[in-house]
Amino acid sequence: MKKTASYKSYMNSPYVSYKHTTYFDSYDYFFDAYRDKDITFVEIGILDGGSLFMWRDYFGSNARIIGVDLNPEAKKWEKEGFEIYIGSQSDKNFWEEFVNDVGEIDIVLDDGGHTYSQQIITTESLLPHMKDGGLIVVEDTHTSYMKGFGDVSFSFIEYVKEHIDKVNMRFGNFEKDKAERRFWSVEVVESMVAFKINRAASVLKSEPIYNIGSTISAKDFRFVDANALMPVEQIFNNKNPKIEIALEQLENVLANIKINNPDITKRLKNILD
Ligand SMILES: C[S@@+](CC[C@H](N)C(=O)[O-])C[C@H]1O[C@@H](n2cnc3c(N)ncnc32)[C@H](O)[C@@H]1O
Repeated sequence: MKKTASYKSYMNSPYVSYKHTTYFDSYDYFFDAYRDKDITFVEIGILDGGSLFMWRDYFGSNARIIGVDLNPEAKKWEKEGFEIYIGSQSDKNFWEEFVNDVGEIDIVLDDGGHTYSQQIITTESLLPHMKDGGLIVVEDTHTSYMKGFGDVSFSFIEYVKEHIDKVNMRFGNFEKDKAERRFWSVEVVESMVAFKINRAASVLKSEPIYNIGSTISAKDFRFVDANALMPVEQIFNNKNPKIEIALEQLENVLANIKINNPDITKRLKNILD
């Protein structure tokens, strides 16, 4: 953590910011390619202003750093050269006005109220307005496992899981109407989810392909593997399914015999033991 560029920028900030030790490796991993570039970076959640300064230090003076908060007092950071928008991230109309004003965005970091509706509405509202090659990072996604942030049966992480299925619906002949093409990938690290935008790759038709190399007509051994279709649980428990089934059948037989002949039951049980 301490060697990361984002941690150094964090420590350089003149105002307080509350983060977690595990976040800095993730920040460097997701954001490094955008440093010292002419980018538009939006952070939802300003609080004491500490992260605004951190991001300016991290991305460099060419980056446009935009802060969003519901607290009107955050406007004060404009005099420090940041662009500040006051409004609620759970308000679709606010985002419409926001994107009309700001234009296309390279990076969104959602560190706002952390409720599921706020995280989902922000993602849904900003996805169509991201630059190609950009990304949305939603932070503090551990709230999906906590009470007080919304209906846990459809938490932000449940929304993410649904979208993992939708990314895979891009494959071949799967249900195309369910396919997600607004973002290319969804990546999960502890407490963060990142949606990467790659428009060409997301709309590419998925179909089988082969190159012009020669073939030796090798046999495909995939079903020769005895474990290929075996439930993973059985493999990990080191159980032989045939013996398991035989034991189950024997137990049933024993149970039936028991009614009439306790002696046979005992002898069979001895063999089993
Ligand atoms: C975790 S703090 C942000 C911390 C800041 N990013 C940092 O690192 O120092 C959360 C902020 O989100 C703001 N917030 C809460 N609900 C919001 C909403 N619905 N829309 C916009 N901002 C909201 C709060 O006012 C608060 O300033």
